[in-house]
Amino acid sequence: MIALSLAEIAAIVGGQTYDIPDPAVQVTGPVVRDSREVETGSLFVAFAGERVDGHDFAEAVIEAGAVAVLASRPVGVPAIVVADVQAALGALARQVVERLGATLVALTGSAGKTSTKDLIAQVLRSKAPTVFTPGSLNNEIGLPLTALSATEETKFLVLEMGARGIGHIRYLADLTPPKIGLVLNVGTAHIGEFGGREQIAQAKGELVEGLPEDGAAVLNADDPLVRAMASRTKARVILFGESDEADVRAENVRLTETGQPSFSLRTPSGCSDVTMRLYGEHHVSNALAAAAVAHELGMSADEIARALSEAGSLSRWRMEVTERPDGVTVVNDAYNANPESMRAALRALAAMGKGRRTWAVLGQMAELGDEALAEHDAVGRLAVRLNVSKLVAVGGREASWLQLGAYNEGSWGEESVHVSDAQAAVDLLRSELRPGDVVLVKASRSVGLERVAQALLDGGVEGEVAAR
Ligand SMILES: Nc1ncnc2c1ncn2[C@@H]1O[C@H](COP(=O)(O)OP(=O)(O)OP(=O)(O)O)[C@@H](O)[C@H]1O
Ligand SMILES: [Mg+2]
Repeated sequence: MIALSLAEIAAIVGGQTYDIPDPAVQVTGPVVRDSREVETGSLFVAFAGERVDGHDFAEAVIEAGAVAVLASRPVGVPAIVVADVQAALGALARQVVERLGATLVALTGSAGKTSTKDLIAQVLRSKAPTVFTPGSLNNEIGLPLTALSATEETKFLVLEMGARGIGHIRYLADLTPPKIGLVLNVGTAHIGEFGGREQIAQAKGELVEGLPEDGAAVLNADDPLVRAMASRTKARVILFGESDEADVRAENVRLTETGQPSFSLRTPSGCSDVTMRLYGEHHVSNALAAAAVAHELGMSADEIARALSEAGSLSRWRMEVTERPDGVTVVNDAYNANPESMRAALRALAAMGKGRRTWAVLGQMAELGDEALAEHDAVGRLAVRLNVSKLVAVGGREASWLQLGAYNEGSWGEESVHVSDAQAAVDLLRSELRPGDVVLVKASRSVGLERVAQALLDGGVEGEVAAR
């Protein structure tokens, strides 16, 4: 964080200081909520959670080097006490980003936020010091903590914003008002909680409503609900996508034989070739979004293309490709799944698996509401159309729909199976995998299918693959 004294922080958050011998002492270390992350000079933020109360760690964090605790009650060690810790954290973040010289980029969408945020960060940091959301910490606590990790040197601050309802993005965008707001897509993630796609669009579009006139709204030209957000902003609109009207486009898109996208990037300032290290064609859209942001921030097509071609995966279980010593390739995409990313992952599997045996170990796509049956059926059918050698559908009712889709598309006999849980999938794969095979593992987060991928990579963890 930029150095601030405890007195300044207390004034910003409207808090009362307790047990602070010298209010001029500065916070020079990171602002953290996890006592294990405390460093010398830290400010520790005490949240009272359901299982753990941060206030119980007050003494320990001061011993570990924290200069004070931001708390909701006096704790017997140096503290700034406020009525609402979350609001105070937000107020502090807001004040700090106002003082920073950094340009704020915020992004939201139904799928691909973290992947795209990681791409934007890797492109921008090739130009200037960049701070970005670690992992997927995109809520009312993770976002201000990330913003507070910026320093005087930070030039770009890239923030992922998540929403589970109307008003969530507005709240986050008020805390850390972006200059550039990017909306990736409006899919079906959390559709149950939102009520429908229109509501999701309403919620995600809050990001562009708050942008300043001299800011930029970066919108997906290929997604009608996102494209329509252009009317909700006073900022300039930049479109990315395959559509002809997109300002930032990809031409000649193809997947290499290793399943990595390759394309010609077209921006208003030029054209340059990209071959990504990431797997799956869904990353083309993510890369274009990142390119549009980088173009807006003054980078040339060549600079952007080079950084996109070098960018790796910074977050786990997203098309993570590992070669086993025996020649089996494991593709762990078990972080999450939706119909769009299932299709992209299957196409990547087909491309990687040319001339090899391919296995799609798939589980439920959650939160699809009324569309669940049709979407699972369609994914099962696509696996057959792409000539995937074997579909292993893992889990309950939704998995049976996947397998039924494959069966109805013409996959009989051994080509598709339905197993009840992760352990059964591992048992089957262990006995049947042969050197040279390629295995894709993918399902929604709640299924926890990464255990299958890990078991295939680690070998003997049978006991750990618990049934779900
Ligand atoms: N552009 C995209 N379209 C569809 N699916 C995508 C896209 N990009 C990534 N995905 C898929 O969505 C899953 C989640 O990716 P990622 O973590 O980047 O998204 P997210 O929006 O940050 O998710 P969360 O809401 O959990 O934070 C991955 O498994 C990936 O396969
Ligand atoms: Mg995320």
